[in-house]
Amino acid sequence: MAEILPADKALDRALALLQAGEVVAIPTETVYGLAGDATNGEAVARIYEAKGRPRFNPLIAHVCDLEMAERIGVFDPLSRKLAELFWPGPLTLVVPLQPDAGIHPLATAGLDTIALRMPRGFGNRLIAALGRPLSAPSANSSGHISSTSAEAVAADLGRRIKLVVDGGATPVGVESTIVRGEDGKLKLLRPGGIAAEEIEAATGMKLERGAKGIQAPGMMASHYAPNAAMRLNAMSVGQGEALLAFGPTRAKGAERAAMTLNLSPTGDLREAATNLFSFMRELDGSGAGVIAVEPVPMQGLGEAINDRLARAAAPRDMAEAGA
Ligand code: TXA
Ligand code: MG
Repeated sequence: MAEILPADKALDRALALLQAGEVVAIPTETVYGLAGDATNGEAVARIYEAKGRPRFNPLIAHVCDLEMAERIGVFDPLSRKLAELFWPGPLTLVVPLQPDAGIHPLATAGLDTIALRMPRGFGNRLIAALGRPLSAPSANSSGHISSTSAEAVAADLGRRIKLVVDGGATPVGVESTIVRGEDGKLKLLRPGGIAAEEIEAATGMKLERGAKGIQAPGMMASHYAPNAAMRLNAMSVGQGEALLAFGPTRAKGAERAAMTLNLSPTGDLREAATNLFSFMRELDGSGAGVIAVEPVPMQGLGEAINDRLARAAAPRDMAEAGA
């Protein structure tokens, strides 16, 4: 089983493992990541292996500063502005890959673009100490719910990795927002931890939705699937169903629920994002066959929450390439 070390005591051990080409689960502000040296093909292969990814999908390369980012990616003025405004933080930028970036092609799945993100906290210190970027998808096995605590990572991947760095519950709770700046336009490739509206307000530009980028695994329909079936926008609760509630008012028949967890009793979308994955996991663990989900408004972080809920509810035969 993986060793679990608190973040303030884990830097040296994590660094030694990464230098040896091993993978390490680390906390970020969004969700836990399964990190490996992005320049080392063997390390990147271990990431896919530990996650049990059915296909090699491109991974986000995590950097510690803008200088490292610009050695890897080509930043047009718009992408640079976004980096300056939102990094470090839950924003991933897709930019053209520098030809001599040194990123292993397995990490980019051979694409000529790369997804870059600068995390805060432990991950940032670790990357700076290593002096190289870290590929890190969410630390969960393929198609499972993303992990927002070290315990969740250990339960899911503990047999397949050596170290989980425990930084406590991740503050944002959903993955980063992925944006591509191209031809003076901004495309939203995945809603996430920074609300699209916030990016629009800061840049004065509208984000294009429904952009056809690559088939990103985070975009696969049946991603984040729990064992239970998910019933979204539930106005009532059936006998024996578990209830994922939101806000102060309950769906009809809520008292019948086998178990109820409220994403945010006050209707705070930020709080709801933080609780989303751990509550889905807990309700799934109750053994209920169906998780009824109360409506979550589509504004702010609600866009990312509804996106993840829709993927969790999608038919399972589409679970072809979860991340
Ligand atoms: O918050 C996060 O983003 C977390 C933490 C650990 O940083 N990471 C994460 O990684 O969610 P992952 O691998 O689960 O999702 C990365 C997403 C995938 O949907 C992938 O397809 C997309 O980024 N992606 C990677 N490279 C891309 C590229 N060149 N163009 C478009 N999308 C890309
Ligand atoms: Mg993922």
